[in-house]
Amino acid sequence: MPRIKIAPSILSADLSKINDEIKEVEKHADLIHVDIMDGIFVPPTTVDSDFVKTIRTKVPLDVHLMVHEPSDSYIRGFIDAGAYSITVHEEACKNPAKQLEFIKRNGVRSAISIKPGTALDKIKKYLKMVDMVLIMTVEPGWAGQKFIEPTMPKARELRMMRPGLDIEVDGGINPYTARISFEAGANVFVAGTSVFGKKDRPAAIKEILNALK
Ligand code: DX5
Ligand code: ZN
Repeated sequence: MPRIKIAPSILSADLSKINDEIKEVEKHADLIHVDIMDGIFVPPTTVDSDFVKTIRTKVPLDVHLMVHEPSDSYIRGFIDAGAYSITVHEEACKNPAKQLEFIKRNGVRSAISIKPGTALDKIKKYLKMVDMVLIMTVEPGWAGQKFIEPTMPKARELRMMRPGLDIEVDGGINPYTARISFEAGANVFVAGTSVFGKKDRPAAIKEILNALK
C-alpha cells in the first residue's frame, strides 16, 4: 500500500485567517484538502480559485471539485492557483476522461471521486488515467456528517485491484473511522471537523496517525 497521508480539510477552518490556520497544521499534514462547491452539483458554494491563490503553504494542495461539468478554463484556474492534485466527480461530468486528461496534460495529479451511492464499476474505465480515487464516505456538500461504513467494500475491492494506487476517503473521518478505512485499503485521509474543529490541531492529527499504527 502507498504511504499514509493526512489531508486536513479547510472547509472546517476559519477562512478569514486561512494562512494562520494552515500554519498550525503544516508540520503534520501531507496535503491540504480544499473543497470547491458550486451550488449546482452540491447545494452549498465555497471558495474559488482566486481564494486558493491566496493560500501560502509548502504543503501540496489537494483540490476537490464538487462542481458540475468543470470546463478547461475553470480547471486551469486551480492549476494556476498551485493545485498539486485535482479531483473531479464521476457523477458531475458527462465524460470525466475529458477533465482527467486535461488535468494530467497540465502536469497535475488527477483523481476521480464517487459519492457513497455510486458503484465502483462506474469508474473502472478511468483507473488507468488517475493517480488517486476519492471514495466519499459522506454525501458531498457538508462537513461534520457521519461516516457511511457501507462504502468500505469499494475501498477493499479497489485496493485489491490497484495495490499501488492512492485511495482517499473523505467525510466523517476521525481516529476510529480512519482505522476502519485503513483496514479496508484507504491510505489518504481527509479530516475536517476532527482536525480544524479541535483546539489542538497537531494533537488531533497525531491521534489519527496513532490509530493507523
Ligand atoms: C464534504 C467535503 C469534505 C469535508 C469533510 O463534502 O468533501 O472534505 O470537509 O468534513 P468532515 O471531516 O467534517 O466530515
Ligand atoms: Zn472534500
